[in-house]
Amino acid sequence: MLIIGNWKMNGSSQSLHTFFENFQTRSQTDLQIALALPYPYLSDLKTMGPSLLMAAQDCSLYGGSGAYTGEVSAQMLADVGCTYIIVGHSERRQYFHETDANVLLKIENVLAASSIPVICVGETLAQRQEGQTKEVLKNQLSLILQHISPQAPLVIAYEPVWAIGTGLTPTNEEIQEGCALIAMLFSSFSQMTVLYGGSVNGDNGNEIFSNPAVQGALVGGASLKPQEFQRIIDCAKRRTNFKINAIS
Ligand code: PGA
Repeated sequence: MLIIGNWKMNGSSQSLHTFFENFQTRSQTDLQIALALPYPYLSDLKTMGPSLLMAAQDCSLYGGSGAYTGEVSAQMLADVGCTYIIVGHSERRQYFHETDANVLLKIENVLAASSIPVICVGETLAQRQEGQTKEVLKNQLSLILQHISPQAPLVIAYEPVWAIGTGLTPTNEEIQEGCALIAMLFSSFSQMTVLYGGSVNGDNGNEIFSNPAVQGALVGGASLKPQEFQRIIDCAKRRTNFKINAIS
């Protein structure tokens, strides 16, 4: 299981201190926990939460280095210790007009930097109501399927746009359907993790993680609150323990 907390454009030096005073959890072999802090605070994770993996919320379309004022490359993020880099979050697609072609370029940059892309896909409410969910997911993923090697490590987060930051979550069936479709499309990929994202919290974590196709979560708002984030991780631990018990 993999749980990634995405702080988006939130937080301060003070709130980071408060968070880590109240959050002591460590990653373990079968449960990785990562935090995607805003760029200025990324390196603070090394001192304040060294047992957590570092993630970034985005990276530049441009690789390496160059005269691109204001940009941060995947290579730089990998250099400071980012294991994961989120690309194609719906907020980037919506507010910064990122296209699937942009997302592909970013994925290539992330992989070239030896970091792992966390690729976000998902339908809007209108698209779901029109019955277009599967089509939308397939379209968002098609360039990746055409251009990325099946040997590449990928994380794909199914994040229905209407569930992000709204407190609304899809039914278990809808989550399972979206995640299973992604797993099926990428069945030839050898290092592939499917996450669910959208209003995950301590109350719905157990149910969400009970879906066999869900291998973790991308958590926004709830990751800002240490106790709530802890509750989600406890739900993931229960699923992990259950799996271990079921196997042994
Ligand atoms: P949320 O955000 O958990 O606040 O809904 C999820 C996300 O944006 O990845």
